[in-house]
Amino acid sequence: MGRYEELRERVRARPAIAPSILAADFAHLGDAIAQAGEAGAASIHFDVMDGRFVPNISIGLPVLTSIRGATALPIEAHLMIVEPERYAEAFAHAGADIVTIHTEATAHLNRVLSSIRDAGAVPGVTLNPATPLVMIEEVLPLVGLVLVMSINPGFGGQTYLPASTARLARLTEMRAERDLDFIIEVDGGINPTTIRAAAEAGCNLMVAGSAVYNTHGTVAANIEALRAALH
Ligand code: DX5
Ligand code: ZN
Repeated sequence: MGRYEELRERVRARPAIAPSILAADFAHLGDAIAQAGEAGAASIHFDVMDGRFVPNISIGLPVLTSIRGATALPIEAHLMIVEPERYAEAFAHAGADIVTIHTEATAHLNRVLSSIRDAGAVPGVTLNPATPLVMIEEVLPLVGLVLVMSINPGFGGQTYLPASTARLARLTEMRAERDLDFIIEVDGGINPTTIRAAAEAGCNLMVAGSAVYNTHGTVAANIEALRAALH
């Protein structure tokens, strides 16, 4: 089994945490990732922002290459960039296990998802809070992961949009109706208060940035608090 398949089996059995390193101290990124792994994180969520699709710029290919060499955890690249067709394969080649693109960012969603698969990574698709789920209906059989944005992307530390819970539940239904097995992931505003609703709606993998990397607690304590809130 590859890293993606192992992740899928793990989160199918029990929801898990995907720390977003966007909230980490980039001067100590290796430590931040190692701490997440030791604390039982299921994957590393890697946020790529281009200053156009979202009003912020974050990290890109050289950083991904470096962290690929530093962790055995699955890495999911969340590309918040316009025209993901220009870079999606490069992120696969740089070592992302899953490359997730926004449906709003490309006119050729089907083609880009296939190109990610051809480049050796598992394709994921994501959509902003205002985008109807029907926009991804046709590509569901092509993807290994669907990411439901529970904030408007661009920044960490925002508040979970409550309507996301019903979207997660509808997506869970769609997956069952069509007998598919993609991972359902949620991103934005996940903390010990919001995580449970997402899990109850069928979500498998919870991205958490500011709830994992902050000055209130250690990475281990923060991940444990998220885990404890799941039950
Ligand atoms: C924001 C990113 C998120 C971000 C989440 O656009 O996609 O992954 O790191 O941060 P929190 O968990 O702080 O909402
Ligand atoms: Zn993200």
